[in-house]
Amino acid sequence: MNLKTLDNLDLKGKRVLLRCDLNVPFDLEGKVLDSTKIERHKLTIDELIHKQAKIIIISHLGRPKGSYQENLSLKKVLKVFANKIKVSQVTVMPFCKPDILKKVINDVSGGTITFMENIRFHPEEEKNDEKFAKELAECADYFVNDSFSVSHRKHVSTYGLSKFLPTVVGRYLELEIRMLDKIFNNMNKPVMAVIGGSKISTKIILLNNLLKKVDKLVIGGAMANTFLAAKNFSVGNSLIEKDKVYIAKDILLKAKQENCDLILPQDVIVAKGINEVDGIKNVGVDEIEEGFSVFDIGEKSIEKISNEMASCKTVFWNGPLGLYEQEPFDNSTNVIGRTAAILTKGNIITSVVGGGDTVAALNKKNLTGGFSFVSIAGGALVEWLEGKTLPGLEFLSN
Ligand code: 3PG
Repeated sequence: MNLKTLDNLDLKGKRVLLRCDLNVPFDLEGKVLDSTKIERHKLTIDELIHKQAKIIIISHLGRPKGSYQENLSLKKVLKVFANKIKVSQVTVMPFCKPDILKKVINDVSGGTITFMENIRFHPEEEKNDEKFAKELAECADYFVNDSFSVSHRKHVSTYGLSKFLPTVVGRYLELEIRMLDKIFNNMNKPVMAVIGGSKISTKIILLNNLLKKVDKLVIGGAMANTFLAAKNFSVGNSLIEKDKVYIAKDILLKAKQENCDLILPQDVIVAKGINEVDGIKNVGVDEIEEGFSVFDIGEKSIEKISNEMASCKTVFWNGPLGLYEQEPFDNSTNVIGRTAAILTKGNIITSVVGGGDTVAALNKKNLTGGFSFVSIAGGALVEWLEGKTLPGLEFLSN
């Protein structure tokens, strides 16, 4: 694959705008919960420092909708960033217009890192405002995109800058593109996709696309409830998208036509509420009573999915299978995660896991290390798998 990379670029003293994705989760006290996203950029930053570039890091944090918000300042990630990237001198610029940044960056020496404040404080960012893109581009000599996970956004910092600056992919984005391309464009068959999460509405195109490509499509998470309803099972008080039942019916039909084995839960874990631990039951999908809600898939379903997985060569997973944030409803996600890790270790399958929630769920049990590739991208990965060209990668084909 022909990528525009950092190879052979003489960056000594050059100003580089580096798009990272430092949009990490925080706990209630404002501490970084998971630093995976930050760590992924280390390779690129190390190389830029080594090449003596003047590095300006751009990232978003949350969705401030175009105005300054103290609680979404990138200062919140600075300490963890310095720790994980192992750099001592990093400065976050006060929230300012590009002309101020330009003055500052001209004066710093090669190999230093300056953070722009949260790019989404600027209302122009998400509008992909051309004037703003041009002004920002004047602060630099190169634009390096190192974030697959935001490349589905047509924003100034993912798309607009590439119109005004020589643009290349950073080492992490390069790795992610190469890995995904290798695995998905030359998939070893049989292929299984495991799709969880709560809403069909966000994954309709993905499901329709996957059922044409994979041999087995496992549906879990609250999304499975809507499929069960489409098969006329009563799902009690479970979370369901009533207005999407007809879509679930259509997907079931298409799977049959495409000869894709669509695997739904046969049994589920139900309770009267997430804190009603005493009343938890493992029941068949035809035994869900009124007043009970489904919070995870059951033992028989876990066994079936594990066995089917062992008969495959490639497995892709996006979306937790149960309410992973709360024990014991994280059971199926943990067990299937362990199965995937064991099968990967035994060279039986190549496994790819993607999406913030899924990675966070598996990280809780230290299982991510067992997968062939872990993508931090959620929405971007889904859009890439839907077959869309991501705006942040468009410059590669120009
Ligand atoms: C993510 O967390 O998936 C990325 O950082 C993108 O964030 P966004 O959905 O707010 O654009």
